[in-house]
Amino acid sequence: MELEPSTLHFCVNGRRVVEENVDPETMLLPYLRRNLRLPGTKNGCGSGGCGACTVMLSRFDPSTGQIRHYPANACLTPLCSLHGVAVTTVEGVGSTRTRLHPVQERIARTHGTQCGFCTPGMVMSLYALLRNHPQPSEEQLADALAGNLCRCTGYRAILDAGRTFCKVSGCCQSKENGVCCLDQGVNGAPGSEEGGQTSPECFSEEEFVPLDPTQELIFPPELMMLAKKQPRKSRVFKGDRMTWISPVTLKDLLKAKSKFPQAPVVMGNTSVGPEMKFKGIFHPVIISPDGIEDLNVIKQECNGLTLGAGLSLAQVQDVLADVVQRLPEEKTQTLHALLQQLQTLAGSQIRSMASLGGHIVSRHLDSDLNPLLAAGSCTLHVLSEEGARQIPLDERFLDRSPSADLKPQEVLLSVTVPYTRKWEFVSAFRQAQRKRSARATVNAGMRVFFGGDGVITELSILYGGIGPAILCATDTCRKLLGRPWTEDTLGEACRLVLGEVIIPGAAPGGRVEFRRTLLVSFLFRFYLQVSQSLSRMDPSRYPSLAGGNESALADLHPALGRGTFEHQGMDPMQLPQDPIGRPIMHLSGVKHATGEAIYCDDLPAVDRELSLAFVTSSRAHAAIVSMDLSEALSLPGVVDIVTAKHLGDANCFAEETLLATDKVLCVGHLICAVVADSEVRAKQAAKKVRIVYQDLEPLILTIEEAIQHNSFFETERKLENGDVEAALQMADQVLQGTVHMGGQEHFYMETQSMLVVPRGEDQEMDVYVSTQFPRYIQDIVAATLKLPANKVMCHVRRVGGAFGGKVIKTGVLAAVTAFAAHRLDRAVRCVLERGEDMLITGGRHPYLGKYKVGFKNDGRIVALDMEHYNNGGSTLDESLWVVEMGLLKMENAYKLPNLRCRGRACRTNLPANTALRGFGFPQAGLITEACLVEVATKCGLSPEEVREVNLYQGIERMPCGQEINTEGLARCWSECKAKSAFSLRRAAVDRFNAGSPWKKRGLAMVPLKFPVGIGNVAMGQASALVHIYLDGSVLLTHGGIEMGQGVHTKMLQVVSRELKMPMGNIHLRRTSTETIPNANASGGSVVADLNGLAVKDACQTLLRRLEPIISKNPRGTWKDWAQAAFDQSISLSAIGYFRGYESNIDWEKGEGHPFEYCVYGAACSEVEVDCLTGTHKNIRTDIVMDVGHSINPALDRGQVEGAFIQGMGLYTSEELKYSPRGALHTRGPDQYKIPATCDVPAELHISFLPPSENSNTLYSSKGLGESGVFLGCSVLFAIWDAVSAARRERGLPGRLALSSPLTPEKIRMACEDRFTSMIPRDAPGSYVPWDVPI
Ligand SMILES: Cc1cc2nc3c(=O)[nH]c(=O)nc-3n(C[C@H](O)[C@H](O)[C@H](O)COP(=O)(O)OP(=O)(O)OC[C@H]3O[C@@H](n4cnc5c(N)ncnc54)[C@H](O)[C@@H]3O)c2cc1C
Ligand code: FES
Ligand code: FES
Repeated sequence: MELEPSTLHFCVNGRRVVEENVDPETMLLPYLRRNLRLPGTKNGCGSGGCGACTVMLSRFDPSTGQIRHYPANACLTPLCSLHGVAVTTVEGVGSTRTRLHPVQERIARTHGTQCGFCTPGMVMSLYALLRNHPQPSEEQLADALAGNLCRCTGYRAILDAGRTFCKVSGCCQSKENGVCCLDQGVNGAPGSEEGGQTSPECFSEEEFVPLDPTQELIFPPELMMLAKKQPRKSRVFKGDRMTWISPVTLKDLLKAKSKFPQAPVVMGNTSVGPEMKFKGIFHPVIISPDGIEDLNVIKQECNGLTLGAGLSLAQVQDVLADVVQRLPEEKTQTLHALLQQLQTLAGSQIRSMASLGGHIVSRHLDSDLNPLLAAGSCTLHVLSEEGARQIPLDERFLDRSPSADLKPQEVLLSVTVPYTRKWEFVSAFRQAQRKRSARATVNAGMRVFFGGDGVITELSILYGGIGPAILCATDTCRKLLGRPWTEDTLGEACRLVLGEVIIPGAAPGGRVEFRRTLLVSFLFRFYLQVSQSLSRMDPSRYPSLAGGNESALADLHPALGRGTFEHQGMDPMQLPQDPIGRPIMHLSGVKHATGEAIYCDDLPAVDRELSLAFVTSSRAHAAIVSMDLSEALSLPGVVDIVTAKHLGDANCFAEETLLATDKVLCVGHLICAVVADSEVRAKQAAKKVRIVYQDLEPLILTIEEAIQHNSFFETERKLENGDVEAALQMADQVLQGTVHMGGQEHFYMETQSMLVVPRGEDQEMDVYVSTQFPRYIQDIVAATLKLPANKVMCHVRRVGGAFGGKVIKTGVLAAVTAFAAHRLDRAVRCVLERGEDMLITGGRHPYLGKYKVGFKNDGRIVALDMEHYNNGGSTLDESLWVVEMGLLKMENAYKLPNLRCRGRACRTNLPANTALRGFGFPQAGLITEACLVEVATKCGLSPEEVREVNLYQGIERMPCGQEINTEGLARCWSECKAKSAFSLRRAAVDRFNAGSPWKKRGLAMVPLKFPVGIGNVAMGQASALVHIYLDGSVLLTHGGIEMGQGVHTKMLQVVSRELKMPMGNIHLRRTSTETIPNANASGGSVVADLNGLAVKDACQTLLRRLEPIISKNPRGTWKDWAQAAFDQSISLSAIGYFRGYESNIDWEKGEGHPFEYCVYGAACSEVEVDCLTGTHKNIRTDIVMDVGHSINPALDRGQVEGAFIQGMGLYTSEELKYSPRGALHTRGPDQYKIPATCDVPAELHISFLPPSENSNTLYSSKGLGESGVFLGCSVLFAIWDAVSAARRERGLPGRLALSSPLTPEKIRMACEDRFTSMIPRDAPGSYVPWDVPI
């Protein structure tokens, strides 16, 4: 066959692209961003797991004349696979310069964007959905967005945007008994006891531009011509290292496979792509068939359905949905089960790209389809130049046994799924960390066929996710043949399976006992499903399910999240043009949606720009014996490698060391930095740096180990009031306990990014960086370069999410990048990949709380002695400050008359943990709540009763002595109780639980008191700069960073109110140390508070100056007044300043007035738990907040919802896994599960109290950035309530020990039953576990 290089033709946004020399290693994402300068498509993970890179691909099939539009992850799409394809990116959908597409308009106007980094991906997923279904159903909407992650919004607003296109957008469509769930509330209880009217929506649907499918980009006619006319000849693309062959006929495919038998047949590249990228597997030749009809067959024959190996999983899903509807149920058991698995397999992008053949042949250990295809006795049709043959898709094929596998030169043509027979039943099962877009922890395919006498004649049981291969319980199946379908058989089956399917204690992936339990839990569910079907088919012979066992089969509450919002009405006297208090859209909302919003890595390449990649430690505590840079330095394109030696005495800045010198203190410790002429080359060279380590002792990973080794940062912090010892003596009861809380990854969607540009004159440096603290970056860079700060300017337009994680470590990364730029006198860019980012940067501190609590029998706490330990990691970072804030806020909403609380930051061999939204409070508050729950259990009271009896009331003093007015707290608590119909729903939950042994519901309500303030006046100072130009337009600058919270929008609202000027007249470019020097970090919920007061001050200065001019010409315009001021030599530029809130704290005495005000709130959550799998669904959350006077209710609602969902992730699903040697296992969205659209509560009701407190804050508003995170723990306590109900019913002694996160694993193992007691347990110390709890 000829291997003449071909030309690649495709279209992007309707424009033809022709590439003569395409490198087969190039993916579409970098090509769009760098080569075509279309940076709207974002890189959030590079692994198909986040959806930020979603584009729409359109393929024309000349044989059918059909065009297929589908969403795809550009990060996994090889450029060479795009011949003849039309690519649509967010830029092609619409723009502010042409017209907005309705999707873009609606996602912005429904307030579905915050930082905006995920928004282009969301837009493209919705756009692709609408291209295929202009009026989608809710289920289709849920499906379309399942593969897109957002860390800011909490998704509700995005779903609302999507819903505006749905057939019935005003209803949940999840009708139980014909009643909308919002009408009936949950469990039959009304939506709100007060029947509260929600305020007018924050957007108006009537104003939306209608969707007009005829306006969409058409498929480029030239590509159609190309497809019709091009010769049926293989295309070949040759790169430096790789050759790509695209055969277009079956004959050529077989020829290519025969010539290059080792070359993979790349279809969707969703398996080969990640393997090459993350596992370092390299293929010199790739064969990628294109448009070969034989691979796309769909044949319904008399014995089964044959599906071409080239069909995408999404196409398979469509075919199955159709066939299952048309054929009798008894024939479609396997097809039905396949369809069920496909509904939760990955997101719609992956399913649209991945092929059935690729799925089968790649044989992933957690494949959702293969166990089922094998159980269903499917047959593979394979072909080579030597001829065709069939091989069974069975255990031996799945185990890659050479005699049962494809030969290297063979290709898979199709697979036949046999129809099932009468009395044959097939089921599929899966449990994953998240309901959608998460690989299975364990999955299974099971099939049984009963002979005429009702005994088991055929049985197949296969499990995935359990070990090095998908496993068939062959022996078990054989031994059960001939047995009747009874409870006894089930018991025997469980025993046999546990004896046959062995998951060793040290198994990769951990969760060993959970996985063992799932093996038998699934078996039980299969038993019930089949029993139910048998009973339906022959009720006289088979009894219906008894004892509430149907509850094991019911699906968890399925509804997709939707919400209501009740906010403060406007003062009727407020001028209509005054925007304060109005739900103004995020200033950049539309630009987020069109991809025009520029983030750091979207900046165009600078002349001769270089890339920097870090080399990090693979050991947690070791001496660096030697470092060999020679191979890395010799690679083409490598320009330099920066080490600690080069940095010399500039290697240290305050507490931070930039690069390791002679030893490393954690896995991920920065060792050196490779600088090369491209990102790919820098990364390749970084892998070639050879480092020899010698491990050092001790290795300290956990808090317990730190305590044991007395490994702490600084001295302890302590707060004390009252007489704890005496009060403990007086208590009716005393309890001691410990609470452990795991950490959290920031998972900002935009990873750490920076571009440093030497200006070539006077040693000036411009640092463009994604940070919350430009001043710190300026300081650390200036110190590293030994330059005065006035030579180093740091600029931030916007940040794609930060949450506390873009301060200290960002400074270190920027300092090294700047050093390289300075040394080489060339611009240097450094953008961390998701995995590197997760490895190098720390996150929220894991906490250990120990308490001794004395209380009265009515639940009143009289004494609390508490110790907090946080896991600080290897350097101090902000760990001590986190301890302090945790202590100052630890009592949450409760009056604890006698309290002693001590806190320490532990020094361990982990990357330094740092600030993360809530800053110690989500951990400290949880420990106190857990203690209260224990007290409630002891007193035989509900947790809510104990919470209520201990609530602060009226004017109170916090443990640090600061006086607070807690009226808002009592109102939030009582309103939340009323709005959530707590008592009615409590009774309904109990009723539900009484009849449902396998699904339990739980209800919990928690109060919130979140003190806002920094504890230091200087750290609260802020400046702003307002210029009025002669045309009357205004340019505003302030020191706050826009990271999604909408601070720039609020600041424009402030200027608009103060200057009585339309917001459209005011512009804000970016935050820069050049315009606002010495600004404080943006964080701690106070960015709008502090900067707003500075902005207000600047405006008032201008107004004072201009007042004589304005009063002389009150009907004039700003243009008139500006010109008049200029003519009179009055300055039109003013600096505004706010010196910071008065605050102080004396840690010697443990006293002070550290906070300015408190945000109060309460949340009530209800969940449903599946006791067999540990999965839960949040079915309703009600949140009531006292937010003062909201400056912008739409943005504030977004902050509350986003924080709540982030908190829900913290407390229920996000789990960092470390190896016993301190290496982070969870390095991407595949392993670390932040909440996704499926996790939004089915109902999310938010209401803001009418303003209750006058304060000296900005227009009496309150900062809401952090407080809502804590409310996520209402979900944890609701789960606890549900699990407790299960345990009570089962007569289990003891309580479920509270720890966070409360994951499916913990839930399942706490719902002890005959299955958990059946599994083998390993003696501690008898194996080395895969992970250790940190
Ligand atoms: C983010 C993400 C999430 C995922 N989630 C899930 C999940 O929840 N559940 C699940 O089960 N899977 C999941 N997967 C795995 C996914 O299902 C597989 O990667 C996919 O099905 C592979 O198909 P492909 O066409 O992309 O394969 P490719 O990567 O193109 O090829 C894979 C392998 O198959 C071989 N091959 C392909 N076609 C043929 C053929 N016709 N003849 C011979 N050999 C062939 C290739 O040689 C190669 O070795 C996920 C993957 C990603 C990236
Ligand atoms: S960047 Fe492609 S899915 Fe995350
Ligand atoms: S708005 Fe979705 S990640 Fe920030």
